[in-house]
Amino acid sequence: MWVSWRAATHRALYGDGGFYLKERPSAHFRTSVHASPLFAEAVARLLARVDADLGHPERLDFVDMGAGDGRLAAGVLAAFGGERLRVVAVDLAPRPGGLPPGVEWASEPPGEITGLVVANEWLDNVPVDVVEQTPDGPCLVEVDPETGSERLGPPLTDPADLAWLAAWWPLPRVGSRAEIGRPRDEAWNSLLARLSRGMCVAVDYSHVLADRPDQGTLTGYRDGHAVPPVPDGTCDITAHVALDACARGEGLLTTQREALRALGLTGARPPLALASSDPRGYLRALARASAEAELIDPQGLGGFGWLEQVR
Ligand SMILES: C[S@@+](CC[C@H](N)C(=O)[O-])C[C@H]1O[C@@H](n2cnc3c(N)ncnc32)[C@H](O)[C@@H]1O
Repeated sequence: MWVSWRAATHRALYGDGGFYLKERPSAHFRTSVHASPLFAEAVARLLARVDADLGHPERLDFVDMGAGDGRLAAGVLAAFGGERLRVVAVDLAPRPGGLPPGVEWASEPPGEITGLVVANEWLDNVPVDVVEQTPDGPCLVEVDPETGSERLGPPLTDPADLAWLAAWWPLPRVGSRAEIGRPRDEAWNSLLARLSRGMCVAVDYSHVLADRPDQGTLTGYRDGHAVPPVPDGTCDITAHVALDACARGEGLLTTQREALRALGLTGARPPLALASSDPRGYLRALARASAEAELIDPQGLGGFGWLEQVR
């Protein structure tokens, strides 16, 4: 059975017995949320800035979109707290055990949001079609969900997809591939539409128009390792996000490194003198510096795209 990558990925991740309905992402790969609680602390600082910009509204929302096990939501609740704060973790998977009762769990984001929304590694799991350039124009790449084998399918005819490719991922030569990010743009925009006032942040593996990868980035993850992307429900299927297409020239598109540095994470080591005056304090500060350094490492998590859009 041959199907488009978008349909195959959707079924593999979110269909009956789909990967994300039965597995927690943290068992298979490490996101910033799991790398260190400092990520949630930094997000709580961003929430405090948004709160101040909004003039401390009666109800302040924090929405963790594509929450996985909800650890970011729980971390922000613990760091920010207060009566005014409503924390909602949104995921298609059922509520995990052990989350504090102060975190609401929902399968859709609230209809009206005033505050901060963070979508950490959500958009890369919104399924996309893969196309390959041929002498006759781009053709859909089809996949056998059981084996991951591929074949060239019909020519791409959807005008909206063709327009997206022309604008955001032109295919330079026969054999070049693209992942059509239109479903991500739509997902992002439908999230933004729910924001009355505040900020939406998307953090993800990403690329921009000037450096799209010639063969795309479709990858599988299982048990902490990259594996061939076979859409059979046994692994994560992910592709980097064209965040510039989501943003459409609006908002701020930067890296996690720059964004977290602006929130006070520098990775700076404590002064050596502290080692003799307060050895335990020195070790604590050193551990913190190394956790910060991992989150802002330009070759790792710090290289992630960070898109902020404000209303
Ligand atoms: C890569 S995980 C990221 C988890 C978490 N944000 C983290 O950083 O550890 C992506 C999550 O997005 C969820 N997801 C994907 N599409 C979704 C949708 N339309 N609505 C809600 N959650 C979704 C998946 O179920 C999965 O748990």
